[in-house]
Amino acid sequence: MDFSKLESEYSVLLAGSGSPRDRLSALCELLKARVPQYDWFGFYVARRAEPLLDLGPFAGEATEHTLIPFGRGICGQAAESRETCIVDDVSSASNYLACSLKVKSEIVVPVMDPRTGDVAGEIDIDSHAVAAFAPEDRAFLERLALIVAADVAALRK
Ligand code: SME
Repeated sequence: MDFSKLESEYSVLLAGSGSPRDRLSALCELLKARVPQYDWFGFYVARRAEPLLDLGPFAGEATEHTLIPFGRGICGQAAESRETCIVDDVSSASNYLACSLKVKSEIVVPVMDPRTGDVAGEIDIDSHAVAAFAPEDRAFLERLALIVAADVAALRK
């Protein structure tokens, strides 16, 4: 995957006008469409006063997990630990919250709030392939987390 080409594409998109929600939605569609192993691409947004994650913009199948407490599932684990979490085989993760039987691996990257320094939300990606997320994906997505931080923070309730 040529991540540098993708980065220039989404930089144009994120510099555009529109609301933070519209920009993040367009980013989800772009990355789901352009990266073959990204089968579900979305954001969860952390509430300001409660340790809860609300489902934000996403591209892919609808999920029943629209509200996840910190500490629950892979998403809640990443929010609590403030660290990227990669699960190569979700069937071996006892805390995994299933969205679709097709999903085999997942990466969750925390997005830090530039103003408060706490977790503003996270990037969550599911793949239908086992071990779909390489160190290059992690580096790419951790850079992306910095770039989208202000837009994710703007969606916090
Ligand atoms: N699998 C996640 C739940 C969210 S869905 O992947 C969209 C988890 O275990 O937290």
